[in-house]
Amino acid sequence: MASVVVVGAQWGDEGKGKVVDLLTKYADYVVRFQGGNNAGHTLVVDGKQYIFHIIPSGILYQDKVCAIGNGVIVDAQVLLGEMDNLAEKGLAVRPERLLISANAHLIMPYHRMLDQAREGALSSNKKIGTTGRGIGPCYMDKVGRTGLKMGDLLDMALFREKLAASIEEKNFLLTQLYQQPAIDAKAIAADFEKLAERLAPYIGNVSVVLDEARRAGKHILFEGAQGTQLDVDHGTYPFVTSSNTIAGNACTGSGFGPAHIDEVIGIIKAYTTRVGGGPFPTELPEGDAIGDHLQNKGHEFGATTGRRRRCGWFDGVVARDAVRLNGLTGLAVTKLDVLSGLDSLQLASHYQVEGRRFDRMPENILQAALAQPVYESMPGWKEDITAVRSYADLPRKTRDYLQRLEDLSGARPVIVSVGPGREETMLLRNPFEQA
Ligand code: GDP
Ligand code: IMO
Ligand code: MG
Repeated sequence: MASVVVVGAQWGDEGKGKVVDLLTKYADYVVRFQGGNNAGHTLVVDGKQYIFHIIPSGILYQDKVCAIGNGVIVDAQVLLGEMDNLAEKGLAVRPERLLISANAHLIMPYHRMLDQAREGALSSNKKIGTTGRGIGPCYMDKVGRTGLKMGDLLDMALFREKLAASIEEKNFLLTQLYQQPAIDAKAIAADFEKLAERLAPYIGNVSVVLDEARRAGKHILFEGAQGTQLDVDHGTYPFVTSSNTIAGNACTGSGFGPAHIDEVIGIIKAYTTRVGGGPFPTELPEGDAIGDHLQNKGHEFGATTGRRRRCGWFDGVVARDAVRLNGLTGLAVTKLDVLSGLDSLQLASHYQVEGRRFDRMPENILQAALAQPVYESMPGWKEDITAVRSYADLPRKTRDYLQRLEDLSGARPVIVSVGPGREETMLLRNPFEQA
């Protein structure tokens, strides 16, 4: 029996979908615990690509149970759309294979409208560059104690009552502050009535089910979304998402006790990307030859919004923050293949900010924006490594680079990924077997 948490170590899109799919082979349960359909997790299996925004990335295995914990926020329409897509591919999702916490909050149509209106009203240097999926406003309602929950779909009279209580304030904001059309509670309730019918069989108590699973000796895999530097408390605030993305939230966001977590694996790209606004010290400017190499070879476009991802060198400061904040017991290094062909590689070991050395991301956002990375340089390798399946077969310079990532971060690579496919991977240590 082991419980393993997988989290993003940078600004998201590190390859969590791929790694979760890979590790699901050894797990019995796969659990999302935070975020919503701002996530876009890509899996490539037998040459076929799947992108999941809300369904856990373990869903392709027919004999595993996927769970959506209380810390997740759910856009019911998007969830049903993903289920329909899977059904069309002959992979129908049934209630035995997907459980949704009654305590997970619902993303409502007005959350999406408010998210987009707020972003639209910000000046360009203040824009967060949200995914526009209603994430911030939904979590605001949750913390403000005015949110609607999955469990409310089982009692539509309560759902209507809570919706009516909430709608007046939303319409005031939409019409008076953002000059948007008012929304109609009756129409929303009618739409949700239909969604509720379909979703009711999936709603339950994730905490109880996971506790029973653990006692029965089952393996549980927790799937993080976004990344450590997007954490609402520990990231580059306010250029963050609205949830805690770090490993601690695997417990809070699913109702699982922290003493039962055995391993925490941080997914980390061999370089760095970020999508949306905010500080990115090792960013290479658009048009830079190396930045273009990473962008093109790494196909760095958002899996949710299709936006171009900003690209830059590996950042040891970000990696160290991730090891500390998540208590990482290992790294899964992805996209190492993308670095093939570069003459030399730069890695940031620390920052200089106005003459002062920083070994962590500065808490002050203005200082973070001013951070100058201090680089060390390593020789690159020319070989195509996508067909390599054992660590010993990697070129010497590639192994040296991995060793440097370990030295700079303080955590050892346990998984090395050299391509998007499930099989394009080296599992150096199985976290489910060691725990
Ligand atoms: P996630 O949000 O962390 O799940 O990551 P995304 O799916 O948003 O982005 C990662 C992208 O990189 C996807 O297109 C993956 O198919 C791809 N990918 C994952 N691992 C590797 C790898 O080792 N090499 C290459 N070339 N692509 C990878
Ligand atoms: P996965 O799980 C990368 C970013 C957005 C924006 C900020 C806030 O695929 O790694 P939000 O819509 O959450 O309010 O946007 O967070 N962001 C992500 N960036 N990967 C993600 O998810 C992200 N989810 C949100 O671009 O900068
Ligand atoms: Mg993604």
